[in-house]
Amino acid sequence: MSTDRYLTFALGKGRLAKKTLELFEKIGITCEEMKDKESRKLIFVNEKLKLRFFLAKGPDVPTYVEYGAADVGIVGKDTILEENRRVYEVLDLGFGKCRMCVCGPEKAKELLMHHERIRVASKYPNIAKDYFYNKKHQTVDIIKLNGSVELGPLVELSDVIVDIVETGSTLRENGLEVLEEICPLSACMIVNQVSMQMEKERISHLINALKGALKK
Ligand code: PRP
Repeated sequence: MSTDRYLTFALGKGRLAKKTLELFEKIGITCEEMKDKESRKLIFVNEKLKLRFFLAKGPDVPTYVEYGAADVGIVGKDTILEENRRVYEVLDLGFGKCRMCVCGPEKAKELLMHHERIRVASKYPNIAKDYFYNKKHQTVDIIKLNGSVELGPLVELSDVIVDIVETGSTLRENGLEVLEEICPLSACMIVNQVSMQMEKERISHLINALKGALKK
């Protein structure tokens, strides 16, 4: 093992990154540079521990990890499933818990039950496709959106949506509900397949330390 090499972490921007840094602090990994909100820097370094961190758009995190630009990535399970990259998924970090669901107005229940050819809007077309085609064996038309997916049924773009539900308040405030649950989600740690061999010791140590901190 070479300690001269930096171990590089790609973190999904936003809520998960903040929680990730809090968790890392518990195991003695800090990156003061990253806390400076004014900074426009993209890469942050902890020289002492030979660690590098960068923030990326969530869906890009598995890409950086697959290609080895980052050894380790922290990102939501939703993104891991949607991107389907060749990476090892090594640890469920337990935070950022939510659910991937089929949602819509109550009247759409009937359409789901009778396996009608419905329109499904989603930011997660691969997850939606896998669920309807491979699990439910229902032919549907999938429409990719980039956010505010709840608009789909409201403006009659789609019959239902496949989206993340956390508190359920976005659905409630828009007269929609969970119709079917696809899977639970949370933040996960992924590792590049080559790094897992080359940096086995450092990465295993990190995983064990994180597991210990998560138990507390
Ligand atoms: C997510 C998701 C839902 C909402 C669910 O959207 O797509 O819209 O949060 O949370 P809730 O159940 O607590 O209401 P996000 O805020 O990421 O924005 P987006 O609509 O642009 O994807």
